[in-house]
Amino acid sequence: MLDLLGSTKRTAYAGELDLKDKGKEVSLLGWVHRRRDMGNLIFIDFRDVSGIVQVVFNPENGVQLLSKAHHLRNEFVIAVTGIVYPRIQNTINPNMKTGEIEVSATGLKILNDTKPLPIQLDENLQSDEDLRLQYRYLDLRREKLRDNIILRHKIILSMRNFLDRHNFYEIETPILMKSTPEGARDYLVPSREYPGKFFALPQSPQMYKQLLMIAGFDRYFQFARCFRDEDLRADRQPEFTQLDLEISFATQSQIFDIVEQMFKEVFAKTINKHIQIPFPRYTYDDVMTRFGTDKPDLRFEMELKDISDIVKNSEFRVFSEAIKNGGSVRCINAKACGNYSRNKIDELERIAKHLGGKGLARMKVENNDLVDNIAKFLSKEERNAIIKRTSAKENDLLLFVADKNNIVFKVLGELRNHLAKKLGLINEDLFKFLWVTDFPLFEWDDENNKWETAHHMFTMPADEDVHYLDEPENYGKIKGQLYDLVCNGMELSSGSIRCHRVDIQRKIFNVIGITGEELERRFGFFLKAFDYGAPPHGGIAPGIDRIVMLMTKSDSIRDVIAFPKTLKAKDLMSDAPAQVEQKQLEELGIKII
Ligand code: AMO
Ligand code: AMP
Repeated sequence: MLDLLGSTKRTAYAGELDLKDKGKEVSLLGWVHRRRDMGNLIFIDFRDVSGIVQVVFNPENGVQLLSKAHHLRNEFVIAVTGIVYPRIQNTINPNMKTGEIEVSATGLKILNDTKPLPIQLDENLQSDEDLRLQYRYLDLRREKLRDNIILRHKIILSMRNFLDRHNFYEIETPILMKSTPEGARDYLVPSREYPGKFFALPQSPQMYKQLLMIAGFDRYFQFARCFRDEDLRADRQPEFTQLDLEISFATQSQIFDIVEQMFKEVFAKTINKHIQIPFPRYTYDDVMTRFGTDKPDLRFEMELKDISDIVKNSEFRVFSEAIKNGGSVRCINAKACGNYSRNKIDELERIAKHLGGKGLARMKVENNDLVDNIAKFLSKEERNAIIKRTSAKENDLLLFVADKNNIVFKVLGELRNHLAKKLGLINEDLFKFLWVTDFPLFEWDDENNKWETAHHMFTMPADEDVHYLDEPENYGKIKGQLYDLVCNGMELSSGSIRCHRVDIQRKIFNVIGITGEELERRFGFFLKAFDYGAPPHGGIAPGIDRIVMLMTKSDSIRDVIAFPKTLKAKDLMSDAPAQVEQKQLEELGIKII
């Protein structure tokens, strides 16, 4: 029953046909998306990479053709020849791009059949994700995934064109390399030639792009694959893609300007969205105190309010003790939620506790006063001052967290996002970009009892803070010349002005405890390069997967990557990682214990 392709050539793509093709004879090559067999009339939705068009088989074009079409089943691969006709008025399908026309078949070749599919391709009847990942090549036939992958191509192409016009060179850097630490564990590759020695896959091309600046290339970019063995989340994959870029003699403002222009162009060209530039700039301290997070969603308000000064001597010990212990008391206003049920409030408290909070105090506004829960522990003056500070109105619900600042920010920052979703405060059509600047250069690592760099160790401190590098008691005060680009609550990019002076770079390594033999072994080759006329430089690395997630409004990063890994870092389709032959291990001098 199967035919060979023979000399049949495609003359049109299904999704591109419309009324202007009326009367044309076309040959289409692709799949049976869906079929309706009404006996002496057969309709199929014919699909190729460009979309879907309806093809009709009717007896007027020959009973032989009709009887062949009876054999068609969903996902058969076919070649159809036919004439494009306008559909009659009451059969026009306004929900379909090609809904004004149909193709009346005059010829059919069945090029391949199929076993019944193990997964549903219907967007409304999605199969379990593990099964879909196992049959990813079928899952990718779904319209939504196909569109995401094609948009991804357009976004990358449009970025590449923009950067080419702005004098950037695209340069590849090694995949087999010495580790560039970005804070995650490395994926290691054993060496056969040097048993016991390993390459690391790049966590990013950070050191190479800086070396390219020293080499004099001035402006570099690369769509760089990065590999990080870390705990995965909805927006994290173990291998992902960055638009890595670096500019010599750049100031922070120049980098912002280039990136803003690029985003504006890419959004306009690929999804026809006009975004406002320049993006607003906020300092790290500002976003933390106002939104409780360094990646705030600015599509809604609900800012945090600090009430520590009001309740520092309060009789309510939960509040006053938290402040005495160096923490704070802050709150958010869930507008018009005064009637929230006990269940809903308990749910919020559960979230607070899950995030490390000790509880969630709350009061609501009734008759210009605060009532419920902890109101009885606060004086009238305290209650009035809180109403004033929060501008709370009748029936508003105030939610309070008292704790160390990092816990207060974490809990209220998350609750702010959670409530905005629940209360429908988010306008899904908006893209609210912002820059976050002036991050601390170092963070205290409680677990290991040492200072760590907040971003990475190649960042230049703020000019006015460089002298603190000699004052251990002031390490925590040093701001770095580093910045994040955030949109709708997602960190899209991170970057910094780099430390091009080797004396300053050595001091930074010293603060984080990388010194002596370890420093030479891990970074000696890199530091040496800075002895030979290293220009000032800086850069950034927008995460492509997250940008495509944002632009396609996808909740999962797996929906924008052709062959992603699971949250457990597994490729279910090929079942990797997998065991290797004993002989391969022996060649590498590796014994599994
Ligand atoms: P950073 O580590 O912040 O910076 O990464 C930059 C951007 O890459 C994306 N990203 C990820 N996307 C998906 N899965 C992951 N596991 C993942 N990790 C990071 C994010 C992030 O903002 N070399 C520096 C950049 C520089 O300083 O120029 C770097 O890699 O969108
Ligand atoms: P308690 O006195 O422990 O019964 O707490 C009274 C209220 O304060 C309860 O609603 C608790 O959830 C809340 N609460 C307890 N500890 C904290 C805290 N650290 N921050 C905010 N609310 C808290």
